Amino acid sequence: MIRCISFLALIATAMAQSFGTCGKPTMSQPDISFTAGSRIVGGQEAAEGAWPFIVALLLDNGEEYYPSQFCGGSIIRRQWIATAGHCLADMENDEIVRRVRVVIGVNNLEDAMRNTSKVLRVVKVVKHPSYDKRTTNNDVALLKLEKQLNFDSKVQPICLPTHDAHDTRLAANVDYSTGRKACFVAGWGLLREQEQLGSRAPGTTIGGGSNRLSQVAVDMFTDRECTQYLAKVGITYTDKMICLGFPQGGADSCQGDSGGPLVCKDKDGHWELSGIVSYGVGCARANLPGVYTNVYNLKSFIDSNTLN
Ligand code: ARG
Repeated sequence: MIRCISFLALIATAMAQSFGTCGKPTMSQPDISFTAGSRIVGGQEAAEGAWPFIVALLLDNGEEYYPSQFCGGSIIRRQWIATAGHCLADMENDEIVRRVRVVIGVNNLEDAMRNTSKVLRVVKVVKHPSYDKRTTNNDVALLKLEKQLNFDSKVQPICLPTHDAHDTRLAANVDYSTGRKACFVAGWGLLREQEQLGSRAPGTTIGGGSNRLSQVAVDMFTDRECTQYLAKVGITYTDKMICLGFPQGGADSCQGDSGGPLVCKDKDGHWELSGIVSYGVGCARANLPGVYTNVYNLKSFIDSNTLN
């Protein structure tokens, strides 16, 4: 009986997703046609409401200190956030529940400091049992929020991927010059590799790099390319990873963007969470793509822990 009900729940969720209740920002969307700037690395400031599924993870530093943003995450269901495993690896679950706050529905993190309804607590943490700190394999963790979210134009879920990240047949944005699929990543992290996380004067920024959300487009590399690029810097590429960037570098996520969404758009107009910002050697360097968690290949872990 229970099994039957959870099977029905699974079907209902799959249907809800295919009927477009996820991954369709209503206010604005990340836009492929823009000139390179300097946000995230090589990107631009995100438009209001273009990333309704992104959240910021803040660490409560006690009363007299400003909270600090240390990672990003994505709303995948009414009460669940997906983030990177390494964001939470150094904290026990009870400390995470006590100190981590999830900011929803804002581009500028200062807005959350003025509006407590945008700052939520965590009630449960699910870390991937096979997350490997040394190799960063299986870099995913799930956070259950204190309450169900009400979705509106600024707070919406992202779709989990329905197909392999490298499949370009259904992709909306294929870079004509290279034949590669273009995707977007966003976050409040560093704007340049040379910067240091949290190096701004205390009280001036909450975001690791910036208070305002930044985004950039990056191209999806093949598994073969990723294996080759990353082997040169001693990284073992696995099927739980994908890698994106440009051969010439210049655009990337960076420290502080970890855990945040890497999204790709399908021809039918919905966005999918293809990746989670995981790691990189420096940021935006030539021949060194950023590494993202392969969400499609970890979907059964995500589904089995959040569909209840
Ligand atoms: N590990 C970093 C963090 O904790 C994110 C690294 C992303 N780096 C990159 N070059 N894409 O924020």
